[in-house]
Amino acid sequence: MAGPLTLRIRRPDDWHLHLRDGAMLRAVLPATTARFGRAIVMPNLTPPVTDTAAAVAYRDRILAALPAGAAFVPLMTCYLTDRTDPDEVAHGHAQGVFTAVKLYPAGATTNSAFGVTAWENIRPVLARMEKIGLPLLVHGEEADPAIDIFDREAVFVERVLSWIVRDYPGLKVVLEHITTEEGAAFVAAAGPNVAATITPHHLLINRNHFLAGGIRPHLYCLPVAKRERHRLALRRAAASGDPSFFLGTDSAPHPRADKESDCGCAGIYNAPSALACYAEAFEDEGALDRLEAFCSLNGPAFYGLPANEATLTLTRRDSPGPSPVAVEGGAELCPFRCGETLRWSVGD
Ligand code: DOR
Ligand code: ZN
Repeated sequence: MAGPLTLRIRRPDDWHLHLRDGAMLRAVLPATTARFGRAIVMPNLTPPVTDTAAAVAYRDRILAALPAGAAFVPLMTCYLTDRTDPDEVAHGHAQGVFTAVKLYPAGATTNSAFGVTAWENIRPVLARMEKIGLPLLVHGEEADPAIDIFDREAVFVERVLSWIVRDYPGLKVVLEHITTEEGAAFVAAAGPNVAATITPHHLLINRNHFLAGGIRPHLYCLPVAKRERHRLALRRAAASGDPSFFLGTDSAPHPRADKESDCGCAGIYNAPSALACYAEAFEDEGALDRLEAFCSLNGPAFYGLPANEATLTLTRRDSPGPSPVAVEGGAELCPFRCGETLRWSVGD
């Protein structure tokens, strides 16, 4: 009798990850390093990582916290503010510290208070990044409180991303964690310098999953999950084989108590289940033959890096979803698909 379906793919990278710091960093690193070769590490710490020295220090803390034997490379990012100096960004890039620069519109999401308040402030930095080939990673939501939260990504694409791409055609831009048909269409129509990451949760849930029949704070993230037609558009984009779309989990841990609260934090901690979730989505799309490109090839190609040599296997076998994760000091994380059954299991 034939055994279960098994896929061997190059080891994936996570092109959008929140690792945090201290006890939280130590709690979440193992799930990522067990599965991913590299990750783009988000800089939205408190205070944010806004210069080369801070990024080197943060990278050292990550490397010091690696589980024994882990072969994992953190790729660092610079948090863009109104006052970011183009020379500093270029210096960090030349030193091999910065892989990208992250743009948070001020007020758009967690720890974005130091983000950009006026676009003209960042034009000199964008021009320098275009010149030196340093990618811009964008949290693509309009922060204007008057804009409906479900429209913020589409409005950002129309009002902001369109001119960034027009005025800096040589700039590499990643629209992070896309959640809408409009976001996917913009990226698909743009040239090879414009790409998007797609999270596992936005391939699996729509807004009903977190709002209908009771509010589920562990499914709340930013950008929020949208209507079903958007989820289906994201699935088509991910499974299309278009190299502009690649894996970025946006795994964003918050203690359970901060999620299950009067004002719950945005962020889904998905590192333990992400790969199984992507496999489920690609299987549903009849596109398992394109899973490796999405997980392991398109991202490195966009960043001009080699694909990982190591591999891992995905087996079509039910496996228990992740358990709660303890954080030193008493906090607990409730990972995405906690207590559920996953259709795929991940091994070496
Ligand atoms: O849901 C989110 N959580 N979206 C973000 O953009 C930030 C992230 C976080 O840092 O918790
Ligand atoms: Zn994020």
